[in-house]
Amino acid sequence: MGYKIKNICCIGAGYVGGPTMSVFASFCPDIKFTVVDINSFKIDAWNEKDLSKLPVFEPGLDKLIKKCRSKNLFFSIDVEKIISESDLIFLSVNTPTKDKGLGAGKASDLKWIEESARQISKYAQGHTIVVEKSTVPVKTAHTIEEILKYEKKVNSSEEKSFSVLSNPEFLSEGNAIKDLTNPDRVLIGGTDEKAIDCLAGIYLNWVKSERIIRTNIWSSELSKLASNAFLAQRVSSINSISAICERTEADIRQVSMAIGMDKRIGSKFLNTGPGFGGSCFQKDIANLIYLCEFYNLEQVAKYWQGVLDINNWQKTRIVNLIVNKLFGNLSSKKIVILGFAFKANTNDTRNSSSIEICQGLLEEGAKLSIFDPKVDAEKISLYLGSQEKIHSKRTKGSWTFCHSISEAASGSDAILVLTEWNEFKNIDWPNISKSMRKPSWLFDTRLCIDEKEVIKTGLNYWGIGRSPN
Ligand code: UDX
Ligand code: UDX
Repeated sequence: MGYKIKNICCIGAGYVGGPTMSVFASFCPDIKFTVVDINSFKIDAWNEKDLSKLPVFEPGLDKLIKKCRSKNLFFSIDVEKIISESDLIFLSVNTPTKDKGLGAGKASDLKWIEESARQISKYAQGHTIVVEKSTVPVKTAHTIEEILKYEKKVNSSEEKSFSVLSNPEFLSEGNAIKDLTNPDRVLIGGTDEKAIDCLAGIYLNWVKSERIIRTNIWSSELSKLASNAFLAQRVSSINSISAICERTEADIRQVSMAIGMDKRIGSKFLNTGPGFGGSCFQKDIANLIYLCEFYNLEQVAKYWQGVLDINNWQKTRIVNLIVNKLFGNLSSKKIVILGFAFKANTNDTRNSSSIEICQGLLEEGAKLSIFDPKVDAEKISLYLGSQEKIHSKRTKGSWTFCHSISEAASGSDAILVLTEWNEFKNIDWPNISKSMRKPSWLFDTRLCIDEKEVIKTGLNYWGIGRSPN
């Protein structure tokens, strides 16, 4: 006999938990899904009537919330009660890189995973399937199992049992609803076949069976890290080639196209840019490096370290290039930053290249005017300090938040495009150019601006991976 799944809980109402459960709820009307979080503000935001105020911006998410919320999709802070009612629990809490102690800067901090496992072992009833959704280091399932086993011993009077599965998330932000609705593959790792059948059965409501892959738990955990490392490696590879293009007469767009048309390579993830950001790539590679070092695989660790090094170098070289183009001096120059999110179609700023690039420009004394259609001033101040203040001895510049591109551009010396938002593709260049101080520049790190339109207005143009004019 299989396990019956009527109530599903997801611990962690973040960028992964919220959208993932919304898609599940829309395809499984007979199952009740509750997303829980220790942060009551976040839960309040998920329960907001005004759907423009949801804590996560994802195209299509508001429609799903409207369809399912208060029917079979709920958001709650009552973690203990919801755990006790659940047959299956997804762990979707954050697993940031450790900032102190053993493995600092590389290893994942698993304190939230541990904390959640302890809560589950204490409050769960009957048989509970526990599913790792967060990206975790290889062998984390073992830690979870150990905690669950120990607590079971302590509370031996209660009848409870657990199966632990790994079911990593492959959604890409900004595309999350599409990725979840039509996944390339669903990976389920574990040993309890009945539990695997149960989870696969839920996915079968909308995913074809040939796309549901079963592996052992360690392969599943490692595949998630490896997938992200491979994707990040492609971005670093194309970014390294962009630098060669700038020194030669090659054009990165032509090179990307030529490489991508080889079916063995494929065309995805070949867009050069200011360096990858987001909550996963940096953290997962750091984790992979830590794992290699732990197993004395120094050469492998060095290989993956190279991917991170190129990523950091890309950001530094953009800052240096801007300083050089603006006569070696940014002191009191006004630079417009278009885009603070780590990619288009998300309000997520974690590890965004904009952070380090803006910090680099501030250190040179620039006055930044920042505009992003979905990121607000409060979020930016978490990284850059408060607005209009000179906030450290080293940092001489200052920044302000602008509500429109034209407000930001007025009197500026340069515009720097860091996120490929659609609305940046249709800027009224003649008017913007008129309002800038000459000689003025446009720096496009995403190649999303029509270069000809810009040059026509008298602006100097620099595009990443483009040969010098
Ligand atoms: C998460 C993981 O961080 C990442 O490792 C994985 O790759 C994808 O899933 P994300 O959803 O983007 O990423 O994280 P975040 O938006 O920070 O949401 C995590 C939520 O968990 C937060 O809202 C936090 O309050 C909550 N949380 C954390 C709990 O509810 N309980 C805890 O014990 C810890
Ligand atoms: C990534 C993985 O794609 C996803 O499978 C995993 O579950 C979570 O991590 P995400 O970080 O949301 O998703 O976005 P992704 O589209 O992978 O982009 C990551 C970064 O790489 C962004 O900063 C993006 O701008 C950059 N990028 C991506 C490029 O610079 N060029 C490209 O061609 C593709």
